[in-house]
Parts: sequence; structure tokens; C-alpha cells
Amino acid sequence: MSLMAAKGRQASSGAGERYKHLFEGDGGSSQPMLHRLGEEIQGFNTQRLLPIALPHDVRAESCQHLNRILADSQILYALYKKHHWLMRGLTFYQLHLLLDKHAEEQLALIDLVAERVQTLGGVAVGDPRHVAEITTIPRPPDGVEEVVAMLSRLLEAHEIIIAKTRDAIELTGRSGDAGTNDLLTSDVLRRNEL
Ligand SMILES: [Fe+2]
Repeated sequence: MSLMAAKGRQASSGAGERYKHLFEGDGGSSQPMLHRLGEEIQGFNTQRLLPIALPHDVRAESCQHLNRILADSQILYALYKKHHWLMRGLTFYQLHLLLDKHAEEQLALIDLVAERVQTLGGVAVGDPRHVAEITTIPRPPDGVEEVVAMLSRLLEAHEIIIAKTRDAIELTGRSGDAGTNDLLTSDVLRRNEL
């Protein structure tokens, strides 16, 4: 049955009224929603007013610091995966497994930090191209480095995150953002130090 025939048949029956929307427009409600571009409804570096009893400026400042740590953590996660894949040498297997474990740990932190930004009413940095603009962790070569260079690159990336985390812990301690302060101390700092 053609669509036109189906349309006529459905429209003429009682049950047809219920399903009429399926035959209207470009396929009705069963059509996947593609190419529906909309306006940005919240800008990056802006805050929604969520009722968590923290002033706007405190939340804005916390989000800025969290997003820097979030960007670095996403880069560190990607570095761990890159080096997990490219690992070689006599200790290949142990390091291959170890780096994947550390990648998973960063992935867990990334989620915690991103969701803290959202809890504060901000916008978590997510797109890798945006992440690349924010991070200060040096970009590795696209090819393969020696194993010791891979490992030292990872250690240095951790130290960059640790330094930013300590600054943010101090700031959130002063500003009264105890939730962020606790997350940064108990989760981000301790895990990265380890
Ligand atoms: Fe793997």
C-alpha cells in the first residue's frame, strides 16, 4: 500500500485519527530527529541559578578552576590510552595493563569533576577540540616516544593537575565551596598523587 493510500485509509477510520500524526509532514513522530540545529541555550563560562546557597561569583570561580582541571584530566586520560596502545619492550604487558588501569581512574575523575561543574550551574568542557584550547599539558608527538619518555610525560601531566588542584583547594576553602573543596581533596588530589 502506498503512503497516500494508507493516509486515506487511516484518516477514514476511527483508529486512524489516533495515528494521523504518523502520516503528516515528513514522517511524523516515527521519523528520527535529524539536522535540528538550535540556539545555544547556555553559554560556556556562565552559571545557571541553582538553589545550592552559594553566591554566583563563588560558583563561577569554582567552575573556572574545575574546567581547567577537567580539560587536563581529559588530556591525561587520552595520553594514558595513547601510551597503552603504543607501549612496547620487555615490560610491554605489565605497562600495557597498568596504563589502562590509570586511564580508567582518570575517566572516573573526569565524570566527577564534570558533574560538579553542572551541580554548580556551569557548563562542563566536553568537546575534545575545546579541551585542547584549555589544557596546559604539552602535546606529545603524533608518533611514538621511547618508553621512559612516555612514562615521564605521564608523571609530568599528573604534576600539572596536582598543582592546579592544590590552587583550587585553597581557593574553594576560602570561598566556602565545601562540596568542590571535598571533591578536589578527597578524589582528585589523592588519586593524582597516588
Ligand atoms: Fe586496551
